[in-house]
Amino acid sequence: MKGVILAGGLGTRLYPLTFATNKHLLPVYNKPMIFYPVTTLVNAGITDILVVTSGPHAGHFIRVLKNGKELGVKHLEYAYQEKSDGGIADALRLAEDFADGGNITVILGDNTTDSQIKRHVENFDDGALVFLKKMQNIDQRKRFGVAVFDVKDKTKIVSIEEKPHNPQSHFVATGLYIYDNKVFDYIRLCQPSDRGEIEITDVNNRYIADRRLKWVELEGFWSDAGTFNTLFAANKYWAEKDNHE
Ligand code: DAU
Repeated sequence: MKGVILAGGLGTRLYPLTFATNKHLLPVYNKPMIFYPVTTLVNAGITDILVVTSGPHAGHFIRVLKNGKELGVKHLEYAYQEKSDGGIADALRLAEDFADGGNITVILGDNTTDSQIKRHVENFDDGALVFLKKMQNIDQRKRFGVAVFDVKDKTKIVSIEEKPHNPQSHFVATGLYIYDNKVFDYIRLCQPSDRGEIEITDVNNRYIADRRLKWVELEGFWSDAGTFNTLFAANKYWAEKDNHE
């Protein structure tokens, strides 16, 4: 399986930190943020990786990641998203040639987790697999894609709502997904949302409509690091974990 890290966008929620470099190169404790998703993929046995980036600081990635060998990557490619804030699915569409007809594991460049997803990668067959995380705080949940479950069968996902005012469940979509190659057909069918982005949630909802989406609960620690609060929380978690090992 190949892996794709989506590290485009402008990181506006982290201004002024992102005036001088790309969000995914900011420190999370003792490593640049992008090292965490790279390590998640490498630990899952994925060493053929595409990084999609954008914006004025795209060139900084190569200085930090180089060819990826120091992190265990065997083959590292880069792609450039022209519309920096075109949306997660707009960035993912650039992976079509790289995927070369195969399945892909996708992770957002600002997501950090210590979960091991290797068995899910190895067992993946077709369709889509999304990793959900239970979140108690309702105000925090409103910032994410939130799963809606069947009223009769609480394990059956009927849709995902992006940044809902009234979250229908406690399960948020993490930025970790496994897709078959049909993902690129689904992306082509998506239109920009009200905020002008091609949404990964729309792609996932198309998989759900075709009964081709499965979900699992992500174990362990997971946090994005795209706001001041979550960047701080991720720094704190990884610093404490490192100091206890
Ligand atoms: O972190 C999980 C959440 O990520 C999910 O629950 C949401 O469903 C999903 O839409 C996304 O929400 P965010 O609002 O956190 O997405 P954000 O715009 O912060 O983008 C997350 C990453 O995606 C970012 O670090 C880089 C990549 N990205 C984003 C955009 C908008 C791109 O590569 N290109 C883009 O145009």
